[in-house]
Parts: sequence; structure tokens; C-alpha cells
Amino acid sequence: MGNRKDEHVDLALAQRAGITRNDFDDVRFVHHALGGVDRASVSTSVEVAGATWSVPFYLNGMTGGSERTGVINRDLAVAARETGLAMAAGSLSAYLKDASTAPSFRVIRDENPTGFVMANVNATVTPDDAQRAVDLLEADALQIHINSVQETVMPEGDRDFASWPSAIASIVERVGVPVIVKEVGFGLSASTLARLAELGVQYADVSGRGGTDFARIENSRRRLGDYASLVGWGQSTPEALIEADASTAQLPVLLASGGVRTPLDVLRALALGARAVGVSGHFLEVLVEHGVEALVEHIRSWQEQLAALQTMLGASTPGALSQQELILHGTLLEFCTSRGINPAAVSRARGRGTLPSKGQR
Ligand SMILES: Cc1cc2nc3c(=O)[nH]c(=O)nc-3n(C[C@H](O)[C@H](O)[C@H](O)COP(=O)(O)O)c2cc1C
Repeated sequence: MGNRKDEHVDLALAQRAGITRNDFDDVRFVHHALGGVDRASVSTSVEVAGATWSVPFYLNGMTGGSERTGVINRDLAVAARETGLAMAAGSLSAYLKDASTAPSFRVIRDENPTGFVMANVNATVTPDDAQRAVDLLEADALQIHINSVQETVMPEGDRDFASWPSAIASIVERVGVPVIVKEVGFGLSASTLARLAELGVQYADVSGRGGTDFARIENSRRRLGDYASLVGWGQSTPEALIEADASTAQLPVLLASGGVRTPLDVLRALALGARAVGVSGHFLEVLVEHGVEALVEHIRSWQEQLAALQTMLGASTPGALSQQELILHGTLLEFCTSRGINPAAVSRARGRGTLPSKGQR
């Protein structure tokens, strides 16, 4: 297990160079030259899982379980503490199987005693084990990752998925903190989101395609590399958000991650309906290539840019971004056509595009 987490880090970093264009590039804001507000009237804070986060982005779940990933977790936790970012641990499966790996996870809380920390488990653990993972980190929330594509390509992966919905419902019922169900880079469809709501899940991170690709990572770990056809599987993050936005079903509060490269991508995801946005591969790359101080500086720059862009767009809160008018391009338009979604309605959903009439100005 320790080796697997080390391999994941190396393979995730190796694919960073190829992540240039993704579906976020097909989402543009309509520019309104007189649309800006004053910086002093802008707040970047959001409410997530019963807490107030100072910015609407966070360090998403990655790692732990080996000596090297313990060092990475320590550095990520220092960056989270210095910038006030919420942070998720990687899967605590290693700890649940072998308690000697505890320090590689516990360091996240030790370095950041008052920060917002999320534990992370898979959908096969018992409610008691989920609670053990929460307890180790004194976590404020629990992520449950659902990753059937990754498991399918992983040489030693699970092949039994039928019990996941009932396991999720049991964990939600028993665990003493808010639960966030997340994908790992393949997207959550609207019907999956509706099912999660039925299971009592309040928060879901659509974590779509466009960044870290675990089909590619796991395929590189196969001797024959014979699952190459699954590389690129799933819905992109903007696609998942657009489909959720068009749904009339009751859905959990949406978080988004997958392929977020810039503060502008954060704004795009917020405009498409996410409450907050997770970043994994990009921040990991900055940390491993440039060190923890550079990561802190980088996150601070994102925090500043986010406030600056909200000011320019006239969004006094992150939630107000959902009122922005958007223009969709390229494969996102094809996605809308194929899924029966009116692309013009996406950019006007929830009151978007409704400028006051002449008499009201
Ligand atoms: C090295 C690495 C390890 C990861 N391990 C986990 C994990 O243990 N649990 C989990 O829920 N997601 C894990 N993820 C997935 C991320 O949380 C996220 O869903 C995915 O990487 C997409 O975001 P990105 O494009 O910003 O990397 C991992 C990602 C990376 C890069």
C-alpha cells in the first residue's frame, strides 16, 4: 500500500505536462465593462459543511500511508495552516489496515490544529472504521471516494461495487461529521448525484475529467498496459456541473474538482454552480517542484486573484458568480446537445443574464 501511494504521486506528477487544455477553456464569461464593484465590498468566504472557509477553494484529498507521502502531507498541512485553506487527507485505507501508518496522516492535524481537515475513506469501509479515520484526524468532515473506474484498471483493485450505495448510507447515518462523497476524476452524473441525495448525502464533489487521470495512472501500473482505452473516461468537471445544473431533482450541495489549473478555473466552476472547488494535482506539482514556501506564496496569489476577479466581474460573494452570463464552446456544446440540455439556458440558469430593464436602472 505504501508503495502504491508513492507510485500514484510519481505517476500523477508525470502526467502534469500533458494537462494544458481542458473543458474549462470552453467556458467564457461575458465581459461587462461597467460590471465591476469596489474591492472593499467583495467577500471570498463560503459556508461548507457547517464552517466558514475564507476562500472557495481547498486542497483536495491525495495522500498518506508511506514515509514519503507523510512528508508531503506535512508540507500540504503547513501550506493549509499558513493560508487558512481547508485540506483533505488521502484515503486512510492504509491506516485502517495497518495502524503503524497513522503518523503519515496524523501529521495533517498536528501541523494545523485549528484548520478545517477532512478525512477520506472508500465506500467499502464499515461505519466504525469511517469513524476511526475521522477520529485519527479529529476531522471536521469525511470524504468518501467512489472510484469504480480506478478500481477496474488497478491491477489489485476491487471488482465488487454493488454494496457501495448502502455502505454510503450507513456511514452517513453513523459518522459524527458532515460527509462529502467524491469521484476521483471521472465525474458524477446528475442521476448519481440524485441517488446520493436519496442516500442522505449532503455534499458531493463531482471531481471530473480534465486533470489527474487515474485510468492512465493505474494503466501504467499494469504489466501489459492493456486498459489504455479507458484513458480519458468520464465527464469533465464543467460537463458534470452543467448536467447537475439542468437537473430538476434534489441534489446535494455541489463541490467541484478535477483539472483546476488557475483561479479563473475556480471562478468558472463557481459560476457553473459549485459551492467550493478542490485542487489536487496542480498544488502537488508546485509543492514537489518548488517546495512548501513556494506553495504558500502560490496559494496566496490565488487568494488575491480570486478577490480581484470577483471585483472585476461584480460578484460581491462567490455565490453571486452563479448570476454571471456564460458562453460555452466546443465539446461542451456537443455535450449539451447529446444530453438534451439547452446551452443558452446553462448561462442563464438561476436568473443569469437577467439585466434590469431600462426603467429600473
Ligand atoms: C497523487 C494523488 C493521489 C490521490 N489520492 C486520492 C485519495 O486517496 N482519495 C481520493 O478521494 N482522491 C484521491 N485523489 C484524487 C483527487 O482528490 C482528485 O479527485 C483528482 O485528482 C482530480 O483533481 P486534480 O485534477 O486537481 O488532480 C488523488 C489525486 C492525486 C493527484
